[in-house]
Formats: sequence, structure tokens, C-alpha cells
Amino acid sequence: MKLIIDNANIDDIRSMYEFFPMDGVTCNPTILAKEKRNPYDVLKEIRDFIEDGELHVQVVSEDSDTMVEEAYRILKELGNNTYIKIPTNKEGLRAIRILAAAGIHVTATAIYTQMQAFLAAKAGASYVAPYINRIDNLGSDGVRTAREIHDMFRNYGFKTEVLAASFKNSRQVITLCEYGIGATTISPDVLDLLIKNDSVVAALHTFRDDFEGLCGKGKTMLNC
Ligand code: E4P
Repeated sequence: MKLIIDNANIDDIRSMYEFFPMDGVTCNPTILAKEKRNPYDVLKEIRDFIEDGELHVQVVSEDSDTMVEEAYRILKELGNNTYIKIPTNKEGLRAIRILAAAGIHVTATAIYTQMQAFLAAKAGASYVAPYINRIDNLGSDGVRTAREIHDMFRNYGFKTEVLAASFKNSRQVITLCEYGIGATTISPDVLDLLIKNDSVVAALHTFRDDFEGLCGKGKTMLNC
């Protein structure tokens, strides 16, 4: 499962890359707005840092022709291995088809239903991004939706992968990881929850205290 960071803050991204085995960065217009800077300045900084890692950038236009124009501008500015995020509505499906036919990587986003995912995959999207937590908040089941999309793609032999998005807790991520989903995009706070565990902290404190009891304060295998 690819692990992608859903964030556009370069300090957060650097920090997450320092500690986690990351595969790329996603963002959306809301995430970019939080940076309060020109979007291309922010994105170029991210591209320089992640080098040829996956960078997923969303178009903002609402008609398919302008979505396609936006896609080419994004690619010109941010180069290879940039995935164009296209909202999965009627106009978006047309844009996905045009871009995919030109060999451009597309991430179909704002996926709430299996049928949106099916249509986006058939139109040629590389990824579809079901919004796990937002689906949960509609009284449905985001994890189940993502699993059903994953199964549907395998049944049809589509190459499209699920890029599960919009997580609010680690359980949602772990369940999809166990299921073999292609990728998840996760905010820094939820990423931290994947490894945060008070039992681990307590176990390590005991190891340290016992060793220091044997060899003295501050001693390690380096200097005992
Ligand atoms: C990814 O494609 C989405 O833009 C993102 O994960 C949405 O997350 P949110 O529901 O936390 O805003």
C-alpha cells in the first residue's frame, strides 16, 4: 500500500518524510488555501523536495475543457509524476477520458459511490479517491465502499487503483491496509496515530531503566 501525505505544508511534509516511508503528496484546493501563498510557489517547493515522488494536484474549473487546460498548466509547472485530480462528476468524466487518452495520470477524486469509481476507471483514471470519513459522515460505510471498489476493479481487470482519502482515525487506515488497497493519503495527525502507542512507550522506558540500572545513567550499547 502506498502511503501518501495529504498536506501542502512543506515543514509538515519534510517532517513526515523524515520519519515515515512516504510515497508522495496529495492536496486539494482547501489544503492549498491553508498555506496562504501562491499555489504554484507552494507546489514547486513540494516538488523540489519530493523529487520524482507522486504529487497529486486538483483542478478547480467546473467545465471539462477548462479542466483539461488546467491539467496541462499543472503539468508544465510541476513536471512528470504529477497526477491531475479531477472531480468525478459528468464534466470530470469527460476530462478524465481526454487526459487519460493523452497518457496523463489522472486521480478521480470526490468519490462517494461505487458507480462513480466504476465510471472513472472506465474513463481511464489511474487512481480513484473515495472519501472514507466523509462517506461515514453520511451514515454510510467508507471503508466498505473502498473495499467494494477495490474488488470491483479486480473483478473487471481494471488497472485503476484505489487511493483512499479523508481519514479521521487509524482504524480506517489499518482495515484498508489489511485488505490490500493500492494507496492511502493521510494527514500528518492521522499518520502519527498509526505509530502512537502508550504500551510501546512504557516498554521502551522499562528497557532503558533496566539498562541504566546495570550500566549507569545515559549508558547505551555504544558506551557501556
Ligand atoms: C483527497 O483527495 C481529499 O481531498 C482529502 O483526503 C479530503 O480529506 P478531508 O475529508 O479530511 O477534507
